[in-house]
Amino acid sequence: MKKSGSRENWSSHLGFILAATGSAVGLGNIWRFPYVTGQNGGGAFVLLYLACIAIIGIPVMICEITLGRHTRRNPVGAFKQLNPSSCALAHFIGLGMMLCGGLLLCMGTFGWGLLTMLMGILVFRFRWTLVGAIGVFAGFTILSFYSVVAGWTIGYIVKAVTGSLQFTDVTAAENVFGSFITHSYWPLLCHLVFMLMTIYIVYHGVRGGIEKWSKILMPVLFLLLVLLIIRGLTLPGAIEGVRFYLSPDFSKLTAQSVLEALGLAFFSLSLGMGAIITYGSYVDKNDNIFTAALAITALDTIVALLAGLAMFPAVFAMGFAPSVGPGLVFQVLPTVFNQIPLGALWAVIFFILLCVAALTSAISLLEVVTAYFIDERNWPRKKAALVCGGVIFLLGCLCAVSVADWERIKWLETSIVAIFGSTHDSFFNVMDDISSNWLLPLGGLFIALFVGWVWGPNQAIKEIRHGSKNFADVHLWSLLAGLKDDPSHSSDVHVVTLASLWGIFIRFISPVAILIAFLHTIGWLDIKRPEPEPVQPIVIEDLLEKIPPVEVE
Ligand code: PHE
Repeated sequence: MKKSGSRENWSSHLGFILAATGSAVGLGNIWRFPYVTGQNGGGAFVLLYLACIAIIGIPVMICEITLGRHTRRNPVGAFKQLNPSSCALAHFIGLGMMLCGGLLLCMGTFGWGLLTMLMGILVFRFRWTLVGAIGVFAGFTILSFYSVVAGWTIGYIVKAVTGSLQFTDVTAAENVFGSFITHSYWPLLCHLVFMLMTIYIVYHGVRGGIEKWSKILMPVLFLLLVLLIIRGLTLPGAIEGVRFYLSPDFSKLTAQSVLEALGLAFFSLSLGMGAIITYGSYVDKNDNIFTAALAITALDTIVALLAGLAMFPAVFAMGFAPSVGPGLVFQVLPTVFNQIPLGALWAVIFFILLCVAALTSAISLLEVVTAYFIDERNWPRKKAALVCGGVIFLLGCLCAVSVADWERIKWLETSIVAIFGSTHDSFFNVMDDISSNWLLPLGGLFIALFVGWVWGPNQAIKEIRHGSKNFADVHLWSLLAGLKDDPSHSSDVHVVTLASLWGIFIRFISPVAILIAFLHTIGWLDIKRPEPEPVQPIVIEDLLEKIPPVEVE
């Protein structure tokens, strides 16, 4: 980073792209994307995910970078600066929430009713600043379970070094993973080590160092994924996995799949909670926001797709079930490494790289909450990093001891059920579901609505034009044809430009798509086709009984 005026800037355009990619590429791509795809039936879900990235991810990414660069603040500060003194849309949303809350109370769901009502009141009081506040809250909830999974990567580095990952079949892989994550102190210790590393970096504000390293290490991770893909594809039976991953079967999607694909897109691109607003606040005025957003999205998506391709052929070749869940990468890849000469060494390198990728993402999460307390509450950086990191560590401990079930924190389960009526099968899943499937998409919806209807695409595009020269205003066809600066294409009035396309997405298409995903999950909009009648299996004995015996004269 370099100092320019009163605020630090990234050292170059590439510096910002790499840092934001460091935030985006992490466990979301390599751990979460393959296992969620596996649980949702493969190919069709991948298409849904790609659609969410294109229709919602890219436009919202442009919004976040623009908000950050324009305000040069943390998410709460950014919204506070642009918050209008009165806003009909905010009042409308607030009123709607209060009504919904009242309705839920009447239906006897007290926990949700009170929470929705309270949110409605807060919307009236704080209007759009609340979007930033939700982002800061999401920073706490995401990092609490994220650091537990990142801790598993540390545990697996130790396991690989000590040679205890040399299993060759599914059962051994499952047993090692199962007993590791439910062990009484190992996961806690690994979670502690990971949080200490994250806090150390944010405490000293030495992101530069880790960024320099990740510039070298991330291409290595990329190469290692390619190696895994080649090995996976050459295993006997791998083609089944390729088919599962690449040929879409829409009947395998469930009502929940749409929201999961959306949540995954937000999670993987670090969108919806202000991480990109915060990173965008250090972007130079002369940088091109459009190309940066496209580059970050493309890199992040490629890594996720490659991770899937490294996983599924091996899953089928080795006899794993694609829907095993969060253990997928920890069970399948070590088994594949065992099929490669010097397997243990490769496994050590892979888990170290995965841990670094998780670290660059975790830093961006902790940076959001720390930046809030530094900018808005005037805390010194050291205090902010320590206190926020400490709180997240404690929340994470609850996640770590309840990965599989509530056994060790029964009291928490009882209290959640008493307030909200029901809960997930573990606290880990509560945190995961709240953050990824609700907070991030809601954050994204409100960011799009705010830029599209309150701050206004006019203001935003003024900011984007700095540094993008005529890029935003060239006719889209000339841009796609590579004729951007051709004199015959430089008429002054262009209607179909990148700027207008983005405006339409941000005002209509992205918010409507997010709303559809929510309504679909709540069950108000069931676009799933009716289940076909189950086909009765044919039993040979029954058939034989029906054939009349042939009398032989
Ligand atoms: N994008 C990160 C990953 O894929 C996780 C993350 C989510 C980081 C939200 C910041 C904000 O691992």
